[in-house]
Order: sequence, then C-alpha cells, then structure tokens
Amino acid sequence: MHNAMRKTMAEVKLGGQFTFSGTSLTVQRIGYGAMQLAGPGVWGPPKDPDGAIAVLREAVAAGVNHIDTADFYGPHVTNQIIRKALHPYPSELVIVTKLGACRPPDKSWQPAISPQDLTSGVHDNLRNLGLDALDIVNYRAMGAIHGPAEGSIVEQVTVLADLRRKGLIRHIGLSNVTAAQVAGAQAITDVVCVQNNYNLAQRHDDALIEDLARQGIPYVPFFPLGGFTPLQSSTLSHVADRLGATPMQVALAWLLHRSPNILLIPGTSSVAHLRENLAVGQLTLSPQVLAQLDGIAAAAAGEEH
Ligand SMILES: NC(=O)c1ccc[n+]([C@@H]2O[C@H](COP(=O)([O-])OP(=O)(O)OC[C@H]3O[C@@H](n4cnc5c(N)ncnc54)[C@H](OP(=O)(O)O)[C@@H]3O)[C@@H](O)[C@H]2O)c1
Repeated sequence: MHNAMRKTMAEVKLGGQFTFSGTSLTVQRIGYGAMQLAGPGVWGPPKDPDGAIAVLREAVAAGVNHIDTADFYGPHVTNQIIRKALHPYPSELVIVTKLGACRPPDKSWQPAISPQDLTSGVHDNLRNLGLDALDIVNYRAMGAIHGPAEGSIVEQVTVLADLRRKGLIRHIGLSNVTAAQVAGAQAITDVVCVQNNYNLAQRHDDALIEDLARQGIPYVPFFPLGGFTPLQSSTLSHVADRLGATPMQVALAWLLHRSPNILLIPGTSSVAHLRENLAVGQLTLSPQVLAQLDGIAAAAAGEEH
C-alpha cells in the first residue's frame, strides 16, 4: 500500500473495535473465519495441518480476537484445530460458532434443527473447542440455495435461549436470516450479531445493515471475498492497482468503509493471505473510489436480471 494510504497504527489496528450488542465482548473489526482450515470441500483434515495451526497462531499473535467457526466444518476438524492451536484461549478471544446444519457421510450440508440436534450441537462444540460455555452461538437457518428464506425460526431460537439459561451459551446470534426473522428472534432473546452473505457484488442486505447499525448490532458478512467463487471484477482490479493493494484487500476495505457495524471474518488457509487481510485496516478509500466500487454491485445486479 502507498504511504499516503496508511493511517497510524493506533487509529486503525485491525480496523478499530466494536462491541457485540448488549455484551461485554469487544473485538477488533478484522477477525478471522476458520472454515478454510478443514480439508477440500470443508471436509476432513487439512492438507497441511501445521499450516492451519500456524494461520490461527499468527492471527491471534497479530491481535485478532474474533474467530468464526462451526462444528460442522470438517465436521469437528476445524474446532479441533482451533483447540490444538490456541487452547488455553486468551481471555480476550471471542469464538463465535453456529448451529443448524450437519454433514452426513455424503458430504452434503443438511439442516439439523430439532431440539435434540441443537442440544447435541452445543455439546459437540463445547467438547471439540474445550470450553465450558460458548461465547456466541449463531442459529444458522438453512434457507434456500441462494440465501435466506422466510419462515419461522422461533422454535430453534427458543431452544437456544433455553441452552443459554442453562449456562451453556452466553449470547445468541443469527445467520442466513431475513429482517423478519431477526425481528421474530428479538421477541424471544437478545440478538448480538447477524451473519449473512454480503460483499461488493452481493448486496441484498443493504437495508438490514442500516437497520442493525441503528440498533448497535454487528453485521458479519460471510463470503466477504465471494467465498467459493472469489470476487472478480475489472473495476476492483483497476482500483487495487491504483492503490498499490490487492483486489481482495480492496474488497475487505470496502466492507470496513460500508458501515461501522460490519465485522470482518475473511477465511484463509494461507499465512500470506492472512497477513494481507489483516493489513486492510490501513487502507483508506476515498469517496470517489467508494462510488466506483459501488458500481460493481449495480453491474452484478444487472446481470442477475
Ligand atoms: N454463516 C454461514 O452460513 C457461513 C457460510 C460460509 C462461511 N462462513 C464463515 O465466513 C468465513 C468467511 O467465508 P469464506 O472463508 O467461506 O469465504 P471468503 O472469506 O469470502 O473467501 C475465502 C476464499 O478467499 C481466499 N482468500 C482469502 N484471503 C485471500 C487473499 N488475501 N488473497 C486471495 N485470496 C484470498 C481463500 O483461499 P486461501 O485459503 O488460499 O487464502 C478462500 O478461497 C468462513 O471462514 C466461515 O467462518 C459462514
């Protein structure tokens, strides 16, 4: 990055901080998503187990204190790697996990939403992470292929609220949900974060982000870099070239600029990519650049129609 683009480290270390609403859990805005640590297709052990441990240790050493995971990554493998790399955990580390899915032997992703599924999912997370209680559990609705689908999630959120009363879960979040589902869950319990699919080209949640920002609730985009199909755009590449950054860095910096309640959990199995992603807090995007980048979503929306 050019020097002109750098802010002082004190101002921007890992994007500054944000507190999960209604909690004492404050994290740097740049965190880490652990899904890429399992084997190919998020199944089985990683090709390079030592490399996976190195990524996690480097992230925490650099100040990352927000790690996103799920026991159905691997399954179990990702949580076991996190435990091996980081346990006993630093007191400031917030591990956010999710319930609502399982991986049968055919490697598909299936809903696991009965009270028994959710309860055993909590115990799987506790055992594999080596914890007595989970900081934040997102109820991950399975929705439709391309995103959330309307429908009541009251039964599942009620089960999580019961597990919270039993002390196994400290806070509840939601994932892959609609605004109506957020409101429905808030009638049952406090919702401390929402994690949905969102990035430069996938902006269906623009209004939800604004609404959550007004409530002080963090919005945590999954697939911030496009996920299984990383973002590709000539505009993004041109902007990145001009700023002396990589396209993926610009995509993450755009999210940090998009709204102060956005927290990043980019996923990577590579220490080199991790370092690039953690450096993004130092990248300032001008209003002109932001307007150019906003054009990517408009073009992507045009292609969808
Ligand atoms: N709630 C949900 O339903 C849900 C769904 C999906 C994911 N998630 C969470 O969200 C996190 C982020 O999503 P994600 O990991 O699927 O997708 P992502 O962060 O959008 O993208 C990850 C992909 O980008 C690559 N990458 C990362 N940093 C890069 C860089 N600096 N330069 C070039 N390539 C880079 C990674 O490959 P390398 O490994 O080679 O770097 C990987 O292929 C996950 O880790 C998971 O914790 C949640």
